[in-house]
Amino acid sequence: MNNYKVYLAPLEGLADGPMRKVLCAHGGYDLCFSEFIRVTDLVVSPKTLIREIPEYENDCKTADGTPLRVQLLGDNPDTLAKSAVIACDMGAKSIDLNFGCPSRFVHHAGAMLLKEPELMHDIVQKVRDTLDEKYQLSVKIRLGFLDKSEAFDIVKAIAVDGVSEITVHCRTRKDLYKNEALDWSALSPLHECANGITLIANGNVNSLKDAKACEEITLCNHFMCGRGAFPVPNLGHVIKGVQKEYPIADILRTSLEVVEEFIATTRTEKTVMDRAKQFLGYARVHKTELNPFFKTFCRCTLVSDGVKLIEQQIAYEEQTVHEL
Ligand SMILES: Cc1cc2nc3c(=O)[nH]c(=O)nc-3n(C[C@H](O)[C@H](O)[C@H](O)COP(=O)(O)O)c2cc1C
Repeated sequence: MNNYKVYLAPLEGLADGPMRKVLCAHGGYDLCFSEFIRVTDLVVSPKTLIREIPEYENDCKTADGTPLRVQLLGDNPDTLAKSAVIACDMGAKSIDLNFGCPSRFVHHAGAMLLKEPELMHDIVQKVRDTLDEKYQLSVKIRLGFLDKSEAFDIVKAIAVDGVSEITVHCRTRKDLYKNEALDWSALSPLHECANGITLIANGNVNSLKDAKACEEITLCNHFMCGRGAFPVPNLGHVIKGVQKEYPIADILRTSLEVVEEFIATTRTEKTVMDRAKQFLGYARVHKTELNPFFKTFCRCTLVSDGVKLIEQQIAYEEQTVHEL
């Protein structure tokens, strides 16, 4: 086992309560995040927090015991600070502020604020000043809005005393999720202006090999992993060097758990199948051997057909492994 820490990234529309439950049960993560909770000029309501974050019923941990950090997104320092207090009064142990979301549906918040380091500073300072110091505060950013050279001013602005961690998604807002734009090397110089705050490397850390390469370039030994959690459901354990990547049969078994989990939360048949397709759709990006199966699976509309197909594929995968 190495000394790496591995966090499951916040993934809006993807890693919600039921999906986090499955991903964390396998992942071996040190921490996971809620999807971003939007804060407007009104403070967040406890009802919203309870609805979005089922982990509140379990001391802000997933069922396997992985701690959850609540992520807030907004542009109003006052309501963000008050919302952070509410989230913590209800049982959260830590808060993350999102300055990385590039969604076009997010207007003056998330990565849009990377253009305004002064406002980012005011938000972080206000939240830190308002929140009891026993609660950790972290911040998630990208390297810049248009250009990586903006990263220094951004980090200086948010490296407020009392911030525990800054996650750097190593792309700019303009880069969205383009693979060729990922630049771990832009992170390493940021340690100097981070006021001693731990920097967490994020972006395409999908294996132990990636983590080692990323450590060498970024000088970080903390990683946040998002989309890689689907093709490698035990990614945290893999990056820590204690498990091998799941074989295809175990990825498929994990997809069955996704189905079970969404059925248990009384979602419609369509939603259950959509979420299983979403899980497998992300998994096949790196596990291309799943592609033919995925094509057939996508034609299933009934859960019973989907489950049968997954079970048949598991049997086929195991027989093939046996014959090798
Ligand atoms: C579908 C999707 C939803 C996301 N939602 C959030 C979010 O709610 N909050 C956030 O800070 N980042 C969000 N992100 C960004 C991820 O947390 C992460 O920074 C990004 O995916 C890069 O990491 P990866 O290469 O390991 O996936 C999202 C990314 C994706 C693909």
